[in-house]
Amino acid sequence: MSVDSITARPRVMSGMRASGQLHIGHYFGVLQAWARYCETGDAYFEIADLHAYTTGFTDPAAIRRARDEMVLDWLAAGVDPASSTFYLQSGVPEISELQVLLGMIVPISWLERVPTFKSQIEALGQEIATYGFLGYPLLQLSDIAIFRGEHVPVGRDQVAHLEFGREVVRRFNYLYGNGEQILVEPQAVLTEAPEVPGIDGRKMSKSYDNAIYLSDDEATTTAKVRSMITDPQKIRRHDPGRPEICPVFALWKLVKPLHVPEVDRHCRSGALGCVQDKGDFAEALNAFLAPIRARRAEYAADMPQVRRIVDEGTARAREVAAETLNDVKRAMNLI
Ligand code: TRP
Repeated sequence: MSVDSITARPRVMSGMRASGQLHIGHYFGVLQAWARYCETGDAYFEIADLHAYTTGFTDPAAIRRARDEMVLDWLAAGVDPASSTFYLQSGVPEISELQVLLGMIVPISWLERVPTFKSQIEALGQEIATYGFLGYPLLQLSDIAIFRGEHVPVGRDQVAHLEFGREVVRRFNYLYGNGEQILVEPQAVLTEAPEVPGIDGRKMSKSYDNAIYLSDDEATTTAKVRSMITDPQKIRRHDPGRPEICPVFALWKLVKPLHVPEVDRHCRSGALGCVQDKGDFAEALNAFLAPIRARRAEYAADMPQVRRIVDEGTARAREVAAETLNDVKRAMNLI
């Protein structure tokens, strides 16, 4: 193990598939945690463009566009590139080499057992059942392991991938470590935020077309909030409502917690109608998003700077990745 990997602060590594614009579900689910990690950790954030090809290989232009949009959203959310490393997955070929090497010791049954493999094929169709897609969790582990990532802040849907990754690391160290931990077992770190509902009350997701995006302007955001569903039994303004089943209420908790007791009281008593509440909430949400939008616009006006951030991060990331890859190849008796 190289000296630089022995640090008191845990090495943080996470990434997102370059698949489109990010919404407030990403913000409360993961990006806020990433921004905090920049203050305390030694953090690597990956633009997972190769992962995007596993399901989006027919539209490379969309993946190319999504790369920039995603980085703008990270910056807008306050993830600080000065105290973390933003990098492009395909710009660090050491990751792909590690995946090939680890592929030699991973039983196919382990990959087939990862729940997303079956569920995504059911959702998206047999066309995505490629060799690359089967290897998705192994590529993800290679992302993490190449930086010896210890803490991986992700959503709940990624826990199975991390569990798989830990098994692969254990197998690698057992086979080639000679008593040493050449690779580090990564640990998922879940954020406190519960699932963020979309405007139709289902989980907020691009594929459900129910998301409020960080890149939406004020008018679009207001219109989306006004179209949100609420308690279906609260038909007239003065009917008492049930905040616990209302998606607008769930978003209040994230956006303006201090205001929650008042909304709760007035909704239950019937004093607050849904139209009024949604108007108030649209205003609160727009106020919350204003600094995020301003930061996004500032960076969007200077794309050369944004690309420089990623290029410099990718160069830094490669140096660290090359060291780990060397250790791995030495352990496997390749060099
Ligand atoms: N699979 C993750 C997702 O869909 C994205 C991802 C790629 C990732 N590589 C990673 C997350 C490494 C954490 C660590 O959200």
